Formats: sequence, C-alpha cells, structure tokens
Amino acid sequence: MEEKKIMCIGLVCLDIINVVERYPEEDTDTRCLSQRWQRGGNASNSCTVLSLLGARSAFMGSLAPGYIADFTMDSLTRYGIDVEHVVSHPGSSFPASIVISNISSGTRTILHMNRNLPDVTADDFKRVDLTQYKWIHWEGRNVDEQIKMIQRVNEYNKDCPTDQRITISVEIEKERDDLYQLFQYGEVVFVSKDVARHFGFSSSAEAVVGLYPRVKKGAYLVCAWAEHGADALGPDGRVLHSPSFPPETIVDTLGAGDTFNASVIYALSKVSPLGQTIEEAITFGCRVAGKKCGIQGYDGIVS
Ligand code: ADP
Ligand code: FRU
Repeated sequence: MEEKKIMCIGLVCLDIINVVERYPEEDTDTRCLSQRWQRGGNASNSCTVLSLLGARSAFMGSLAPGYIADFTMDSLTRYGIDVEHVVSHPGSSFPASIVISNISSGTRTILHMNRNLPDVTADDFKRVDLTQYKWIHWEGRNVDEQIKMIQRVNEYNKDCPTDQRITISVEIEKERDDLYQLFQYGEVVFVSKDVARHFGFSSSAEAVVGLYPRVKKGAYLVCAWAEHGADALGPDGRVLHSPSFPPETIVDTLGAGDTFNASVIYALSKVSPLGQTIEEAITFGCRVAGKKCGIQGYDGIVS
C-alpha cells in the first residue's frame, strides 16, 4: 500500500533573497553578492523539507494566478509536492517577501507584504480526501476556519482504527491573540520564540513549561530557540532538550524554523502515529535545521 501523505496548510509566497556581505546602512546603494527568487512561506518551506527528507508531502494554500504562480507551481512540483489542494484566486496579488540575508552573521531580515490573498477555508478543506493523509500540519493563520478544518479531522479520527488516524500539528508563530486558540487543537504544537518572548519567557525550556497548561491533554509542546536548540514537553511532564548543531559557517537562517518543524514532524510520523520519541525528533529537527543554516536554500539538507 502506498505510504500516506503529510499535508502542510498555510502560506506560499515569493521570497526575493538578497545576499549581502553586511547589513546595509539606510539610504545607501548596495551591491549584493547574489540575488535569487525562491518559493517561500512557512507551510510551503516545510513541504520542501519533508520532500527532501523522503516523505510524501502535500501543500494546501492559496495563490494568485500569474507568472509568480507559475514559478511557484513549477517549484512545488519539481520537489514532488502534491498540489491538488492549491486554490487559485484570480484578481488577488501574490504575497512576497524581500529578504536581506546577511552572509557574515546569518541573519535574515524579512519585509513581507500580503495585500489581499485570502487563505484557504474550511469549505476548501471539505474537498480533501482524508484517507490519503497520516499527518496534517496547520501554520496558524485564519484560525476560525482552521479550527473548523481541525474539527473535521477530529470527527474523521473518531471513526478510524488507531493506525489510520491523522495526527494534527499546529504552528503558533506570530504574536497574535487569535492564534493562541490553536494551543488546544494540536497533538503536536510548535510555538515560536517570538510568541514565547511575548508571554515573558526567556528560554525554550521556560516556554514549554509555562505554556503547557494551554495545550490539550496528551499533547506535545515544542519550542525552538535558534542557536540554543529546542525543548519539548509532553504528557509525562519531562522537559526534553536538544542543543543546536551549528554548521561551520552560518550562511542562511531563512526558513530554519520551517525546516525544524518539518523534520520533527517527519521523525514523529515515520511509524504511525508517533514514530521516534519526541526527544529523538527534536534532536533530528535541530540537526537538519543546523545543516540548513550552513547552506543557501534547502537543497543539500540531507546530503
Ligand atoms: P525561526 O526563527 O526560523 O522560526 P529558530 O531561530 O527558532 O527558527 O530556529 C529553528 C532551529 O534552527 C533551531 O532550533 C536550531 O536548531 C536551528 N538554528 C537556527 N538558528 C541557528 C543558529 N544560529 N545556529 C545553530 N542552529 C540554528
Ligand atoms: C520563512 C518564511 C519565508 C517568508 C516569511 C513569511 O519562515 O516562510 O519564506 O518570506 O517567512 O513570513
């Protein structure tokens, strides 16, 4: 039987990446070391990483038709990512980021614009044949619709034999009150260091302990913290830590978090429902994310 797929739902955008020797002064005219177009967006980046790791992945999100959509679709299909549930919105603008990638420090500064592209809805999600998936991941965005989608999966899971159930994960990345509802909906919840800091925590260990009361019974809460690695907390109450695995030289941290999330999902999903232990999974996540920081883009994270 064919392996079931992992779906990521969220943003796809265009990243115009400007690689510079040092961060520019305001109102100056800088020559870049290189410049490239890259498909971006958290869910879309995570699909790239899942595919590179060898999983069958599917992206669900919106795009605005035109030449950027053609570029995007070409990239998604080149990575073998299933695009059956990409929804096209004629008349909308394609979201884009201008990224300043500083090769000396590895920092990535993002200027993002999403003018009017609507996110996918619970109605769009009704068309998804759930029997094809073993894991669905939501990048927290239009929460009310996303909660309806998750509720559909919960209903589906109720009637499923345990080994056919879909695991639900969510990412809470932005400091936005409405997104915090998602804490109680994931079996695996990824919370960013930005959100953790917003709640007053100054490390990933503090964050998983402090935010754990918000997650549903039995869930795992995971928080990555750049060069400090990541921590996770599950129902047994043990805080598990992974250090980071920095490459010799940090060249590009854009999408490090998306790489980490995808790698954790990959590790946990290998044998249904939760393959490796959460400790092994966050360690694997940090290893792959570390590798990513040492290269431009994502190709090469598994070599
Ligand atoms: P993002 O800001 O992209 O959401 P994080 O900064 O939290 O993501 O990083 C995610 C993971 O990437 C970290 O847990 C770590 O393993 C790896 N990582 C990111 N930045 C570095 C770095 N400077 N050195 C080593 N590893 C890093
Ligand atoms: C990286 C990323 C970029 C995109 C930006 C959107 O995590 O998904 O690809 O431009 O974040 O916020």
